Amino acid sequence: MSESTLRLLTLALEDLGVACAILDPALAIVAATPTADALTEGALVRGVSIVKAMCGDSLERPIAEALAAGRPASGTIVRPGADGVVRALEVRATPIIRDEERAGWLVTFARSSDRGTDIDAPIRFHGMWTRDPGMRRVFDIVERAARREVSVLVRGPTGSGKELIARAIHDLSPRHAGPFRAINCAALPPTLLESELFGHVRGAFTGALRDSPGIFRAAHHGTLFLDEVAEMPLDLQAKLLRVLETRTVIPIGSTDSVEVDVRIVAATHQSLRKAVEEKRFRADLMYRLRVVPIFLPPLAARRGDLELLTDKLVEQLNTEGARQVRQVSRGARDAIGAYAWPGNVRELHNALQYAYVVGDGPVLLDVELPPEVSGVAFDPDTPALNMRRPEPDREDESDDARRIRLALEHAGGNRERAAQILGMSRVTLWRRIKALGLDDSAGGEP
Ligand SMILES: Nc1ncnc2c1ncn2[C@@H]1O[C@H](COP(=O)(O)OP(=O)(O)O)[C@@H](O)[C@H]1O
Ligand SMILES: [Mg+2]
Repeated sequence: MSESTLRLLTLALEDLGVACAILDPALAIVAATPTADALTEGALVRGVSIVKAMCGDSLERPIAEALAAGRPASGTIVRPGADGVVRALEVRATPIIRDEERAGWLVTFARSSDRGTDIDAPIRFHGMWTRDPGMRRVFDIVERAARREVSVLVRGPTGSGKELIARAIHDLSPRHAGPFRAINCAALPPTLLESELFGHVRGAFTGALRDSPGIFRAAHHGTLFLDEVAEMPLDLQAKLLRVLETRTVIPIGSTDSVEVDVRIVAATHQSLRKAVEEKRFRADLMYRLRVVPIFLPPLAARRGDLELLTDKLVEQLNTEGARQVRQVSRGARDAIGAYAWPGNVRELHNALQYAYVVGDGPVLLDVELPPEVSGVAFDPDTPALNMRRPEPDREDESDDARRIRLALEHAGGNRERAAQILGMSRVTLWRRIKALGLDDSAGGEP
């Protein structure tokens, strides 16, 4: 096809109102409409692969992967413009198939704000930062749901902000002056979970030296956050459902029911529906808990937030420690942008904290990031990188201490029994007690 024919065809597409690029089967850019060129600020260099052309701002990985696999793809690409303002582009790539062969690709572009979303301005919502349109919708739903007495189920991978969302719901609700209580259903063995949730009376079991109200009563007139609710054993699910239906709890060992007025926000990293299909979770309880389901996207699916959160977390770390980072190097930003972040915002926070520990100076370098992020292999000759990682998750640590303390209480201080409840050896328990500094409350040597 001649140059002038190609030009005529792209102008025709332009007149049809389509901002698009045409690619050959190998993803090289053949032509683009003037609007597509304008929207991408000249990134669509002819003859270059679209993945490379949009690189630096990197064609988001899911899109690039779908293209490589020959599948249609769509998604949002976030690019800083020449004026420094970050804008989102909606990109949609469709293979052009003729005679069962892929003849090429049609890629369309639209500015996200054309569809009524505007990601330019970062917003702060109850301790969470975002410039992601999906997260903004989440915050809208949170605001609306908070005002009503409905049960909210937050689904999202670890470290994506489920607990922050639960707190935001509480703070925005008419119950905000009441207590907020959280319990992790995955962190406690079933017997402990039951007495933690519903309480017990003195003498209900060996270690029950006095009455314990349980977390439902502690959350009276407030909000109870049931984290990892899918991990709750089936018999406890039945008891939980009864509590929600009757609005009363019966502490273990008692026959008297006590009225409780509690709003539930539950969270899970896995699909409750799937748990129901696998008969691990009661369907009736699922419907009770997920009146308003809220989905938190993983950090990797909101790349626009990566830069923002990096900056905000650096600001925060600057106020905490000795190191003052004035600039995050291009290399470090690229490494952060290319990593998959399975641990989401919590992992990003930890990775930056690591850089504050192993590095110094005003510029944060990629080699100061954890090896899995920087891609720099562990080098035993580089002393800085030999340093111990900061604790991956302080929250887990306190969970651990709490679990052990509860088991000891439950067992009336008997370590043998506490170890049994926890499913660990006495020696391991003793070591954990030492490591966590729980010694005072827990007697002598094993
Ligand atoms: N959008 C966000 N902006 C700032 N910090 C966030 C955001 N989302 C999560 N965090 C931080 O990440 C960490 C994990 O959040 P958390 O709510 O405990 O996650 P989850 O309960 O899903 O595991 C916390 O330190 C929290 O402050
Ligand atoms: Mg959590």
